[in-house]
Amino acid sequence: MSDLFIRNARPYDDDAVDLVVRDGVITEIGSGLEAPDGVETLDAEGRVLLPGLVDLHVHLREPGGEESETVETGSRAAALGGFTAVFAMPNTAPVADTDVVTAHVRRRGAEVGLVDVHPVGAVTVGLRGEKLAELGTMATTAGVRMFSDDGHCVNDPLVMRRALEYASALDVVIAQHAEDHRLTQGAQANEGVVASRLGLAGWPATAEETIVARDCALAREAGARLHVCHVSSARTVEVLRSAKAAGVTVSAEVTPHHLLLTDAALTSYDPVNKVNPPLRTAADTQAMRAALAEGVIDVVATDHAPHAAQYKDTEWQAARPGMLGLQTALSVVVHTMVEPGLLDWHGVARVMSERPAEIAGLPDQGRPIAVGEPANLVLVDPEEPWTVRGAALASLSSNTPYEGMRLPAVVVATVLRGRVTARDGRVVERTTA
Ligand code: DOR
Ligand code: ZN
Repeated sequence: MSDLFIRNARPYDDDAVDLVVRDGVITEIGSGLEAPDGVETLDAEGRVLLPGLVDLHVHLREPGGEESETVETGSRAAALGGFTAVFAMPNTAPVADTDVVTAHVRRRGAEVGLVDVHPVGAVTVGLRGEKLAELGTMATTAGVRMFSDDGHCVNDPLVMRRALEYASALDVVIAQHAEDHRLTQGAQANEGVVASRLGLAGWPATAEETIVARDCALAREAGARLHVCHVSSARTVEVLRSAKAAGVTVSAEVTPHHLLLTDAALTSYDPVNKVNPPLRTAADTQAMRAALAEGVIDVVATDHAPHAAQYKDTEWQAARPGMLGLQTALSVVVHTMVEPGLLDWHGVARVMSERPAEIAGLPDQGRPIAVGEPANLVLVDPEEPWTVRGAALASLSSNTPYEGMRLPAVVVATVLRGRVTARDGRVVERTTA
């Protein structure tokens, strides 16, 4: 809990103000305020101030995948990307399907102290889709609020039904990686003309659409909260729209890469573009943008998926799916949503901070920039473009699909409960008082 004075910042791009932070809480907002004695000052120089970003979907690879990422390196990437809270998926080794492993991930996050790391618990033991994990124990003893078998779909409808029933009783969220594995066996790319031309087995969009339709029906009956991970297809949006209209408590996320990239990128055969769900068509990216603007898709989540070179720099079929996202997410959202006029800065705050915090039930994140609220903040320079270099990113892996791309908007500073965690592209190490 820290004290901080922020001078000349424009919350949501509105009028410039100064902010006083005491013990991690915003205590004063106004113009021409005096910096309190002995308090660190952050001169915002008229830049845009938003609530700290919240990511419902990251892979930090710890435990067991430390050659690709650790809680520490992933936390650094998160802070530099403007995030103050992230949700770490359970496809680790061992799988985070117990209170012991989930509590360990949370503790590692707290030790690093750069971003709040919330563990996502597995829905089924070992992510095998057969037997439910101890959701209740994870919820009560490790404070787990969200469960997912991400990387895999909970394919069996009876298992998914039971999971949703428990989720309803426990008031937790089931986040589904919607992919009917019977329809995607051997799949390597979006089913369509590009995959055919490249000779890659097709991943049909219906594999996503059918699971989402089924799960909405199951969630409705169970009275449970369902969250759909990484929506990639236009047809899924239509399913979500009608489910929401019918009153199903379903929320959905889209990744930055599904807002920007299409399967046209695959012609290089560079596995950096291999991801699950696969990059789709230009019509799908347009549908993702429209759905996010409209609110049918609630949030942006990165699916930050670091993979060490030995898993990624290989032939297409053998390469693991996934791409980095934490340090490029805000820029891609500005490029795809703000620049074309689909979202303003209030909208960015909604899809990258407020709604994700709401879905996950975080009381202290995604809050308005107002007196009495926790000082979880990100300061953005919307004008400043930058060139993405994988090697320069804080992740242990460098599998960014945006290598060499010029993107708008730089994260100038990130503030976690009044403490500056990143500033001018550098992580600010915690000083032990
Ligand atoms: O591309 C992906 N990578 N999709 C997933 O669902 C899992 C993730 C990973 O763990 O690498
Ligand atoms: Zn997934």
